[in-house]
Amino acid sequence: MPKIAVFPGDGIGPEVIRETLKVLKRVGELVSVDFEFEEELLGGASIDAHGVPMTERAMSLAEEADAVLLGAVGGPKWDDLPFEVRPERALLGLRKNLNLFANLRPAKIFAPLVDASTLKREVIEGVDIMVVRELTGGIYFGEPRGVRVEDGEEVGVNTLVYKRHEIERVARVAFDIARKRRKKVTSVDKSNVLESTELWRKVVTEVGKEYGDVELNHLLVDNCAMQLVRYPRQFDVIVTTNLFGDILSDEAAMITGSIGMLPSASLGGETGLYEPVHGSAPDIAGKNMANPLATILSAAMMLRYSFSLDAAADAVEESVERVLEKGYRTADIASEGTRKVSCSEMGDLVVNELNEILE
Ligand code: IPM
Ligand code: MN
Repeated sequence: MPKIAVFPGDGIGPEVIRETLKVLKRVGELVSVDFEFEEELLGGASIDAHGVPMTERAMSLAEEADAVLLGAVGGPKWDDLPFEVRPERALLGLRKNLNLFANLRPAKIFAPLVDASTLKREVIEGVDIMVVRELTGGIYFGEPRGVRVEDGEEVGVNTLVYKRHEIERVARVAFDIARKRRKKVTSVDKSNVLESTELWRKVVTEVGKEYGDVELNHLLVDNCAMQLVRYPRQFDVIVTTNLFGDILSDEAAMITGSIGMLPSASLGGETGLYEPVHGSAPDIAGKNMANPLATILSAAMMLRYSFSLDAAADAVEESVERVLEKGYRTADIASEGTRKVSCSEMGDLVVNELNEILE
């Protein structure tokens, strides 16, 4: 029985997770897989109940599961807490402890949503990018770090470190994915200034030699940021460091029109973690108006990458597309002439389409 650890988290997390569980349960029935779900608090919700963003129980639940589904963590309520106990630490702890070094963030245009983007139709039509972000290294985890006082003045320090093996393994993930797509990898660094990313470029180039069928090019991160809005169709797979990937994946997300549509998968260890790219959106939490599609699409990635249920994953993605084609939209992607629905209505609509496709 595949076991899924579920962390609804904070803000809109519980709402989007509720809709996603509806979809996953229905998928399970339709393809005769008996998913077992176990829920735990995480982030701010865990701080409120237990005083820490992630309990040991929550960590071992994740470790013992076959996959982890997460809503979102964080919110203004916990923003003034010391760094070490903030909700975000739970997410970083999960990623590190589960050894999830490769973060896959697809940014794909849904044809019915082309006009939701702030960019022109002719620039974004057909965009289909996979950002592969290194997730357990780089400046997010490098030592030394912290704020201290030196000669009577406060000094803030973070360290950008990459070891060869950390670059090699994430590069391989990117090349393997490119092989199943349009066979092009763009590696993004700042090798004209930062030595650790000079090593990045060298190692990615070496790994690239093992993949003669995949084209590799390199871009400096500032240029990549520019190219993403200038001519995004040039990209297939982008592989980059933790921090650059954090920034560029938000940018890539926005060209698709709504961050509310974008899923992610974090892979590397035995247990994959699946979560929407968006945050906890505290301003609309509890109002049943969030967009659950990014989390539902994250569940599709789970079906594909953790359970090799490719047909089921395709069916979920197809259902989402059909719902959009019929004109249904949550508030974040609504426009004139479309039918505005709530978070829970959106979940039901996806389940209806699933029934039609899989029954
Ligand atoms: C993300 C988020 C996280 C990150 C935060 C919440 C720690 O922005 O998943 O992109 O920076 O990785
Ligand atoms: Mn981010």
